[in-house]
Amino acid sequence: MRAIGWDGGDIVVVDQTLLPAEQTFIRLRSTAEVIEAIGRLRVRGAPALGIVGAYGVAQAALAVVTDHPKEVLRAAEEAGEALKATRPTAVNLAWAIERVLGKARVSRVRNPEKLVDLIIEEAHQIRLEDEEACASIAKHAHELFEPHSVVLTHCNTGSLVTGGIGTALGAIRYAFESGLGIAVLVTETRPLLQGARLTAWELERLKIPHAVVVDAAAPSLIARGEVQLVIVGADRIAANGDVANKIGTYPLALAAREAGIPFVVAAPTSTVDLTVASGSEIPMEERDAAEVTLILGAVRTSPAGTRALNPAFDITPAALVTAIVTERGTARAPFKRSLGRLRNVSAPGDVRESTAQVVSPSPSRNGKASRSSKASRSSKASRSSKASRSSKASRSSKASRSSKSSRSRR
Ligand code: MRU
Repeated sequence: MRAIGWDGGDIVVVDQTLLPAEQTFIRLRSTAEVIEAIGRLRVRGAPALGIVGAYGVAQAALAVVTDHPKEVLRAAEEAGEALKATRPTAVNLAWAIERVLGKARVSRVRNPEKLVDLIIEEAHQIRLEDEEACASIAKHAHELFEPHSVVLTHCNTGSLVTGGIGTALGAIRYAFESGLGIAVLVTETRPLLQGARLTAWELERLKIPHAVVVDAAAPSLIARGEVQLVIVGADRIAANGDVANKIGTYPLALAAREAGIPFVVAAPTSTVDLTVASGSEIPMEERDAAEVTLILGAVRTSPAGTRALNPAFDITPAALVTAIVTERGTARAPFKRSLGRLRNVSAPGDVRESTAQVVSPSPSRNGKASRSSKASRSSKASRSSKASRSSKASRSSKASRSSKSSRSRR
């Protein structure tokens, strides 16, 4: 399934707020509609935000009727600024917008239509590269999975939010499809239930055994030895390896450290932001209190007027992170060095050589060798946990102007 598409100037996305009840594709026809969709989390997840942000800029450029390339650029920049302001934490959004704008700014193209084509092509390229990145992340992450283990993941990181199979969920899928016989515990991910609604929906379609747990249950299940690996995505990774991800990630990392199991982050290098030194510099989105006091806008859980805090993300300090798996390889501590090398490699040919130099050797198949012995105390019996047993419990002018392939359906 392709969750994000481009159709003659419309951005076509699955409305994630309607899942799992219905799978409905919606058309975003203007910057205002894209902003609304991002703000309401109809489209969400760091890589998807990047792809949609880039298409949003392309759409604004395409909508301009002009003979002057500067006016195309101005419209693209205005849309880019408005789109960047929608969600501050996921760096992929600003990264992708700046990438398409940068391409247009340095271009010597004098023909406005050709400039628009160039912007659209760059947006397609971002989506394509994300698809490829997902596949590479999955391959690099494979060695971190143990056969017949239980893997815990948070939020939603699959094909709904990327150009490909997903980041953490893509790695899980690849490990499962390679025959490792793994099962998955999925945290609900309060307050908007991305885990319960979206990850469970994706896993069900993939026929991967899974069970949903309330967020509060996860740390004690990890402590009981019921989980062998925690793998999550990221919204922004600082230069020192601190990770911003969906609220509730940090307690999972603490529990994983205490239990001596690996805590792994899977993300494309577009999520690595070397301009921020540490997590304390990452802007953290605070969302509407009503997301906490009402369940999905429908059922009131607190008296009317109750105050609520709703931080959308938390920071997991690098010290709790076992490995960060990117499309260019796996980074381990010290992250400043390993991430810097991975993020700065540009040519695919350079990647392997660089990766080989900077990535610390894995201490064992799953990284446990350097950790406490607690993990090894978890018996095989606990590994065939409940998750594996409960697999089933589970515009007018713009469209007509656009005859070029980059403007049409992709
Ligand atoms: O608020 P959301 O649902 O956009 O948060 C998403 C997450 O935190 C994901 O883990 C992250 O963006 C990675 S998606 C591959």
